[in-house]
Amino acid sequence: MHIATFCGSASHQSANRRALDVVAATLDSAGHVVADAGDLAAIPMFRAELVVDPPEAVGALQTTFETADAVVLAVPEYGGGAAGWAKNCLDWMVGSGSLYGRPAAVLSAGTTGGRNAIDQIARTLTWQGALVVATLGIAAPRTKSDTDGRLTDGPTLDAIAGLADRVVAAVTTGEDDRHQMMADTVSALGIDPLDRRT
Ligand SMILES: Cc1cc2nc3c(=O)[nH]c(=O)nc-3n(C[C@H](O)[C@H](O)[C@H](O)COP(=O)(O)O)c2cc1C
Repeated sequence: MHIATFCGSASHQSANRRALDVVAATLDSAGHVVADAGDLAAIPMFRAELVVDPPEAVGALQTTFETADAVVLAVPEYGGGAAGWAKNCLDWMVGSGSLYGRPAAVLSAGTTGGRNAIDQIARTLTWQGALVVATLGIAAPRTKSDTDGRLTDGPTLDAIAGLADRVVAAVTTGEDDRHQMMADTVSALGIDPLDRRT
């Protein structure tokens, strides 16, 4: 199985990147192939008139999503909302179908656990037809990490592994069960599972 990962932080000390490292290690040890979206800094501000012939970096991100069986996104929360750059990247995916039908997991590591970031990213993924089947907030990640920033807290590592397992399960299960997983997950966030626009 191919899983794409996407980090909404460019920080060299990123807690969200550290959480994705755990996701990738979990998936890798289970025999899955993980492809990270890489550095997103080359993605420009969204311009609707360019979607028919998007910039190269946008096309590369679309390909990363389209070639994956599922996606895992880690997005920080800033000022009560999802990191703007991550939302900008996802705006480029609107109408492309790149995320349509793909099981997705959303996590956020940050001071409060990033509930607002998770809600916003889950909503925009849902509106693009992705099937958000797992979310995880990691509050105060530095207190759960060693001095090198690696997450070491047992319950947190278990929760991240559980998120990765649930994404894999969503790919392998039948379509009805997959949609039920999505409905259970997004309903808990107050998102109407039928409110899928593309
Ligand atoms: C300007 C700024 C605003 C922030 N706003 C929030 C916030 O609204 N909610 C929250 O939980 N954390 C907030 N944080 C904390 C970040 O989410 C936290 O530093 C997180 O680790 C950043 O992600 P990263 O480590 O992956 O770069 C804020 C941090 C900064 C620098």
